[in-house]
Amino acid sequence: MGLVTGKEVLEAANRGGYAVGAFNINNLEILQGVVAGCVEKSSPVIIAVSEGAINYAGFDYIVAMVRTAAELSPIPMVLHLDHGRDKEIISRCIHGGFTSVMIDASHLPLEDNIRVTRRVVEMAHAEGISVEGELGRLQGIEEMVSVEEREATLTDPQEAERFVEETGVDFLAPAIGTSHGAFKFKGKAKLDLKRLREIKRRVGIPLVLHGASTVPQRILELVTRYGGELKEAKGVPPEQLKEAISLGINKINTDTDLRLALTGAVRKVLAEDRGVFDPRKILGPARDLIREVVHEKVDLFGSGGKALGG
Ligand code: G3H
Ligand code: 13P
Ligand code: ZN
Repeated sequence: MGLVTGKEVLEAANRGGYAVGAFNINNLEILQGVVAGCVEKSSPVIIAVSEGAINYAGFDYIVAMVRTAAELSPIPMVLHLDHGRDKEIISRCIHGGFTSVMIDASHLPLEDNIRVTRRVVEMAHAEGISVEGELGRLQGIEEMVSVEEREATLTDPQEAERFVEETGVDFLAPAIGTSHGAFKFKGKAKLDLKRLREIKRRVGIPLVLHGASTVPQRILELVTRYGGELKEAKGVPPEQLKEAISLGINKINTDTDLRLALTGAVRKVLAEDRGVFDPRKILGPARDLIREVVHEKVDLFGSGGKALGG
């Protein structure tokens, strides 16, 4: 089918009230697992590539692999730069085959974030490429002891409205209490869904949830059964993700759950067969498990069957 823009896929999701998975890939097996999972569910997919992934695999390899995947697959597929911060990498993505970029200037003060983001929007829109901006800082809610700290970290709905108006971003990632990685909450998991509702009411455009891995129990058990140590790992509860989707989240970023699946599957093979050294026997089961995890995600996000605009 070829690559499509993020705007195309996410505006359909916004209209239809569902979310599309943005899955981080770093190599062929992860990409193939993600794509197979989405093709089998007839779901659109966003292939997310971080600057670290580009540095690891190489820009040309990434673009060639994902383009090939898109050409071979009957589903809308987006090639998206995740957390772009480096001007040269962002520019290379815009001019070199990506169909969506994120500019992450969320560490800067609001005025600077607006200025930097607007520049990227101008550059990307001139090439027909969509842009995601981020406002607020990703941090688990209970790490914020005071109300002031919470307000300084989570996205202010009024600022979100101004940010979207002045930058022209196509979709926005607000901070509502999630964080990256496998250790998201020390106590009870809780997203600020009231804040999310107000942000959506003010901006209307597709919203993105970063740090959205659920850390599935069975995957965690697999990793730990074969020697992994991940005490206190905790993700976003699936019911809260569902609620967030009903309140306007249309793109759900997932990396940690794929990393855990790959690690669990590889650990199992190596533990059960001490003589194995064929990379296909080591990485093949990881690709299969990633595919299964993606099936579960698509069911949760409600994007199954939406590949043909349904
Ligand atoms: O949000 C970050 C993603 O999980 C990518 O992580 O920068 O280690 O590739 P990375
Ligand atoms: P997780 O670490 O929860 O998978 O989040 C990934 C992410 O936000 C990538 O941008
Ligand atoms: Zn992220």
